[in-house]
Amino acid sequence: MEIKVESRPVQEADVDAVVMVGFEGGPPEGSPAAGLVQELYSSSEFTGKALDRTLDMAIIHHPPGLKAKRLMLAGGGKREKFDAAELRKLVSAAVRALKKRGVHSIAFAPGDGFRGDEDTAAAVEGAILGDFESDRYKTEPKNTDKHVDSFAVLGGSEEAAQRGRIMAEAQNFTRGLANDPPNLLTPTKLAERAREMAAEFGLDCEVLDQDRMRQLGMGALLGVAQGSAEPPALILLRYRPAAGASKDHLGLVGKGVTFDTGGISIKPATDMDQMRYDMAGGGAVLGAMRAIAQLKPGVAVTGIIPAVENMPGSRAQRPGDIVTSLSGKTVEVLNTDAEGRLILIDALTYAHRLGCTHLVDAATLTGAVVVALGHLYAGAFSNNQAFLDKVLAAAKSQGEKIWQMPMDAEYRKALESEFADLQNIGGRPGGAITAATFIQDFVNGLPWVHLDIAGTAWLEDSKPYMVKGATGIGVRTFVELAMKFSS
Ligand code: BES
Ligand code: ZN
Ligand code: ZN
Repeated sequence: MEIKVESRPVQEADVDAVVMVGFEGGPPEGSPAAGLVQELYSSSEFTGKALDRTLDMAIIHHPPGLKAKRLMLAGGGKREKFDAAELRKLVSAAVRALKKRGVHSIAFAPGDGFRGDEDTAAAVEGAILGDFESDRYKTEPKNTDKHVDSFAVLGGSEEAAQRGRIMAEAQNFTRGLANDPPNLLTPTKLAERAREMAAEFGLDCEVLDQDRMRQLGMGALLGVAQGSAEPPALILLRYRPAAGASKDHLGLVGKGVTFDTGGISIKPATDMDQMRYDMAGGGAVLGAMRAIAQLKPGVAVTGIIPAVENMPGSRAQRPGDIVTSLSGKTVEVLNTDAEGRLILIDALTYAHRLGCTHLVDAATLTGAVVVALGHLYAGAFSNNQAFLDKVLAAAKSQGEKIWQMPMDAEYRKALESEFADLQNIGGRPGGAITAATFIQDFVNGLPWVHLDIAGTAWLEDSKPYMVKGATGIGVRTFVELAMKFSS
């Protein structure tokens, strides 16, 4: 999709459709085609209701006084509540609705409440996110003739549009990875994709193979991998700022289970196909690094993705096995389906060895977080409130919903084992919290935030602004955190 910023008046936009936000209460001041727009409001055919299960919209063909073939009014709800996050979704929904109708060129006309660059970036981002389809493996994609060729924002700077494009393409990259089927996206393939991406955007990429991980003593990660014929990979991506050494070093760690059968503690068949997105955290780290390479923040960032397949092969680890993690601590594996935490602890220990000063991990870690927060919020867990506040602020400004969960020391009791230093499950109560508590034992006291994205990384049914499949959650928060980083 070609992205443009144009400063010409809306009347001059020579496109298939101009999109304009209509708020509740009445038509925008100085609206183009004012008479017809007023009629839509007066007849209540269009009310400006906010985007919910559907997009409130109206399309005027051959709008008088405009070069465009159509004028689309898209409902923005209450003007006071309309922010960049709402705009991003609204433009996505408008693009999705218009492309179904065979529209190829779109211009967005910001209204009187236009906030400049922030809105320009959000509109561009929304357009590219909305254009994404989960149809990569269809031989005749349902939208081949129905895609948007160009999207223009009538206002704002090139630089803002560019930022929006980088952010959206990074998220779509992540979504593509998490959508990919588990036969085609194995740990080896994920590492290959990371290498290609790194070469394209000038990042340093290193992949540790099974032998290297054995030498290092990553027993927790290797225990998970041993049940699969597919070898594991530990993917490392390095971004370093051009201007001198940075004293802070952000480590982004993402769970990369390319398929989670549960292992010997096997999962039920229903919806097991969804466990292809058990690498969505790792995918988010890859997407974030892709954007970071282009936006060039002033802080050193290392992306770390432990990639494995969790299978119940004849060499698979058994419930009751005791493994020695890279940290030296031993873990009793009471449930082989609690594998995410096992690969994360070795990756986090390694992140500390690499000199990271701050750690954030994203992982589709527990079904329990879905019970706690549903599909709306990701859970955030931390050992450091000040650092967590920074992550939460980054998420909020980017419209990613993340909710802080408690981490009182009392939860640690559930992980005590008779046979090893700790066990990998803590029972059903507070399952997302005990999982986070398990990981906390391996962060060496560094400021650390864990994001459990099990409920938010996958959309089961398409929404007006997003197609069914992977959501790309985490990318925006990671990138924003890196851009604003200062400790
Ligand atoms: N990958 C799953 C968590 C998950 C569940 C992700 C639903 C996405 C949607 C994870 O590895 C897992 O199986 N966790 C277990 C932990 C339990 C055995 C302590 C769970 O949540 O049931
Ligand atoms: Zn599992
Ligand atoms: Zn898993």
